[in-house]
Amino acid sequence: MGAQAIQCGDVYLRPLRITDLAQIMKAIAQSADELKPFAKWFDCVSEEAEAEFIRLSQRQRRMRTDFVYGVFRGTDGLYLGGIGLHDVSFKHRRAELGYWVRTGFHRRGIATAASARMLLYAVDDLDLNVVFVRTAVANKSSQAVIRKLGFREIGRARKDLVLRGRALDHFYYDILATEIKRRTKRLERLYRLKLD
Ligand SMILES: CC(C)(COP(=O)(O)OP(=O)(O)OC[C@H]1O[C@@H](n2cnc3c(N)ncnc32)[C@H](O)[C@@H]1OP(=O)(O)O)[C@@H](O)C(=O)NCCC(=O)NCCS
Repeated sequence: MGAQAIQCGDVYLRPLRITDLAQIMKAIAQSADELKPFAKWFDCVSEEAEAEFIRLSQRQRRMRTDFVYGVFRGTDGLYLGGIGLHDVSFKHRRAELGYWVRTGFHRRGIATAASARMLLYAVDDLDLNVVFVRTAVANKSSQAVIRKLGFREIGRARKDLVLRGRALDHFYYDILATEIKRRTKRLERLYRLKLD
């Protein structure tokens, strides 16, 4: 599991290693249909690009600008997806949350559990004031995750991101440290995930 791992019930989060590359590539390939409509990075994926992303995530962690974690199954270390706090600013005390989960493991609470853990990490370990998240208006499962965590909807940004030539509207949300702290018990319950 490693020293920097964060336990999350039956899964754990830990920084990516270059030795994860093969199983990450396999997970991405298996998840293509569900990643394609919503993951802006999907079109650029290649083994080389993913290796560079892993190295970049290690540098960004040292620079404390991005905290990227893989989500792994506790029993055997199977890679289940990614979670991260991105564009972290300690000056403004804010970050943006991002996540994805491997096809075959959806609707089991994995994104919710990993996100709940990241919100507590953002407040307890990084001392941030606010976490943002955004999602395409068509991404109903991501919106369900965001609702369960207690984010507040800020509004709809029009033609916010171009994906494969189509400009997509996105909903933006935020949650304050005070709101995260108030929800600590609920977030703790959410992150102690039981995988069937
Ligand atoms: C979005 C995503 C991360 C969700 O991961 P997950 O582990 O399945 O999420 P959870 O199991 O924690 O929660 C999913 C919720 O969405 C709900 N849901 C799933 N499909 C849905 C749909 N079509 N309409 C409404 N709700 C839906 C589930 O019922 C569940 O809510 P519930 O627990 O209240 O029932 C995953 O689908 C994914 O990786 N998608 C592709 C990449 C992506 O969209 N990333 C997010 C970009 S913002």
